Amino acid sequence: MCIEIKMSFMQRINGTIETPTFVKWAGGKSQLLKQFDQFFPEKINFYIEPFLGSGAVFFYIKRKFNPKKVILSDVNEELINAFVMVRDNVEELIDLLKKHKELHCKEYFYKIRAQEPKGLNNVESAARFIYLNKTCFNGLYRVNKSGKFNVPIGSYKNPGILKEDVLKEANKLLQCVDIRVASFEKVVDLAKKHAFVYFDPPYYPLKRTSFTTYTKEVFLEDEQKKLLSVVNELHKKGCKVMLSNSDHPFIKSLYSEFKLSEVSARRMINCNATKRGPITELVVLNY
Ligand SMILES: C[S@@+](CC[C@H](N)C(=O)[O-])C[C@H]1O[C@@H](n2cnc3c(N)ncnc32)[C@H](O)[C@@H]1O
Repeated sequence: MCIEIKMSFMQRINGTIETPTFVKWAGGKSQLLKQFDQFFPEKINFYIEPFLGSGAVFFYIKRKFNPKKVILSDVNEELINAFVMVRDNVEELIDLLKKHKELHCKEYFYKIRAQEPKGLNNVESAARFIYLNKTCFNGLYRVNKSGKFNVPIGSYKNPGILKEDVLKEANKLLQCVDIRVASFEKVVDLAKKHAFVYFDPPYYPLKRTSFTTYTKEVFLEDEQKKLLSVVNELHKKGCKVMLSNSDHPFIKSLYSEFKLSEVSARRMINCNATKRGPITELVVLNY
């Protein structure tokens, strides 16, 4: 007798809760959702995530709490365009990814990488972005000074270029969601009393060689302090705020007025596999 076991996206596999994330992202929170669950408020009606990345936390929150209103944003224009296309044009996106999958090889990767995203329409640009994310080294996103994506090809035997079920599930969860390109400060104008805001900024580096550049911008002391002032504004407004960051004395001192907890994470993106051991990360709450 054959028993079919359907895996739900919420099923816990080796401590990781599966969500329909369609890009691999530095600092992605999939592996931490199980530990984060205890920190989320009991009810969420209005959810805002200003450092979206792969959207792992959004997908989890949407399935568990089904907030009526959601605003997702990030400064990475190509990433946000991909989310918008998954929401609005998933069938065409799937067709384009099928072509990328068929044609994938080293020469094809570099040909697609050399394309100028501005010369493509939005759905072509989203397909290019997802294709490069799935096939490049470690799913990194790095651009040179003139804004050109410059990560080399990865060494995957069978890269997950097209995961139709994941894209369709993400498409469903993104319906009626407000998705925009914005820097995190914008959240002060958008949030209302009782909104739940989750911040996952580029982490403050434990050592100055740590990976911190996701786009052309850097995110060091000045930006971390600016983020603290945004958190303080939201606190005054009556919002619930949760923030993740590295377990560093500088971050602990910035948020010393708030509730601090620790979670244990594996480093997901490190060039050296031996440096991917567990580390402690901070969770800050104002409630
Ligand atoms: C740690 S990642 C977020 C990872 C995400 N939580 C996940 O699970 O994949 C940080 C994100 O912040 C974005 N970012 C960097 N500077 C920003 C800024 N000033 N405003 C908004 N987003 C920014 C980056 O593009 C990146 O996607």
